[in-house]
Amino acid sequence: MEKYVIKGGVPLDGEVTIAGAKNAALGILAAAILTDDEVIIENVPYVEDTKVLLRAIEALGATVKYIDLHTVSICGGTIKKDADLCVDDEYIRKIRASYYLLGSMLGKFKYAQVALPGGCDIGLRPIDQHIKGFEALGAKVDIVSGGKVVAKADNLIGNHVYMDVVTVGATINIMMAAVLAEGKTTIENAAKEPHIVDVANFLNSMGANIKGAGTDVIRIRGVQRLYGTEYSIIPDQIEAGTFMTMAVATKGNILVKNLIPKHMEAVSSKLSEIGATVIEYDDSIRVMADGRMRSTQIKTLPYPGFPTDMQPQMAATLALSVGNSIITESIFENRFKYVNELSRMGARIKVEGNSAIITGVEKYTGANLVAPDLRAGAALVIAALAADGFSTVEDIKYILRGYEDFDGKIRSLGGNIEIVDDDRETQKFKLRVG
Ligand code: EPZ
Repeated sequence: MEKYVIKGGVPLDGEVTIAGAKNAALGILAAAILTDDEVIIENVPYVEDTKVLLRAIEALGATVKYIDLHTVSICGGTIKKDADLCVDDEYIRKIRASYYLLGSMLGKFKYAQVALPGGCDIGLRPIDQHIKGFEALGAKVDIVSGGKVVAKADNLIGNHVYMDVVTVGATINIMMAAVLAEGKTTIENAAKEPHIVDVANFLNSMGANIKGAGTDVIRIRGVQRLYGTEYSIIPDQIEAGTFMTMAVATKGNILVKNLIPKHMEAVSSKLSEIGATVIEYDDSIRVMADGRMRSTQIKTLPYPGFPTDMQPQMAATLALSVGNSIITESIFENRFKYVNELSRMGARIKVEGNSAIITGVEKYTGANLVAPDLRAGAALVIAALAADGFSTVEDIKYILRGYEDFDGKIRSLGGNIEIVDDDRETQKFKLRVG
């Protein structure tokens, strides 16, 4: 089984370039099949989640081609209207974003059948708001045996949809189902994340009429058809934030390139608040840290609040600061699974309800760790890079879902990390880095 082996204690130093946003890409790739024309999408991150979703889209009958590592051509015109639109479970159960095929297929064919989504085990993750939205547009939605969601409609008709909770997935899914519906759809209490805006911009570039994305009211006027387009995905705000916290935890100096500073405001201001130097440029941010940081309090919230996807990485950083910090997780109920692992490295963290109370320690000690999910896995890598001595991180399959060439990028910053397959390779790494 592949794992990372890491020797910590080196301040990371240098430049790193951020890939396209995974969570925008997943919405955009699914939305691409809404037109019969060819769509070319650039800056697609080459990570497991996008690869798996593309395989599922291909299994539906679409023509999918990699033009280069980060550019994909998709033609939804080869999906047969009367084809079996049951997306193969094998692909779908692996990733959460498979639920986007419900919205795009329902929008295009007025019929969709998708196995209930998998993804990281970070909480209950219901899809009631997705279903509520589809039903408001006139679809009948059933969960049938085998855990499949079947949505069908004679006609989709625009309507007013109020989201009971702010949800990224349901907002994107309803947008996709509504772009080809008759008349006007209004989504109220919509999510405002940068990837919502990116999916809306992509759909508009195909000829959709979506206004208000990025605010909490999105208005969609249905159009007759959508057309081919070329589109480039925005940079990944969470990958950028991960490297920013890595600079602080390792007391390093990293120029994080190819990001949108506005998307990073919640992370940048927290890092400045605890004492890091954060310098913003047009499309990059330099983060430097010298010595131990101060403590703080953080509550995760929908955008523009502090992102839940940055909560574990920030916790790994705060656990090395001076004093007591409190992190409150208000989006997902099961996102503190990294705490046991960090404790084995010497961190002092107590979880009470949806809060983690962190008493900063001076240093971590290397340990053998297991990644419980994607972002928690990234947090453990950060801790291992900051720790004294050697660590291993198992179950890196979670990390590979969302970070492109994570170990390669860390090595380019001077970090000692390698993917190894067995004990012999681990020993070789240890001998090499000393
Ligand atoms: C997206 O998940 C992201 N995934 C997650 O990224 C991210 O953590 C999350 O948004 C929040 O920003 C993708 O984009 C593929 P939600 P999603 O719907 O869409 C509740 C990562 O690490 N809810 O915004 O599944 C839900 O339980 C991942 O990259 C309902 O109650 O999240 C949660 O408490 C993991 N009913 C809250 O809303 C619903 O029908 C927000 O969830 C839908 C959601």
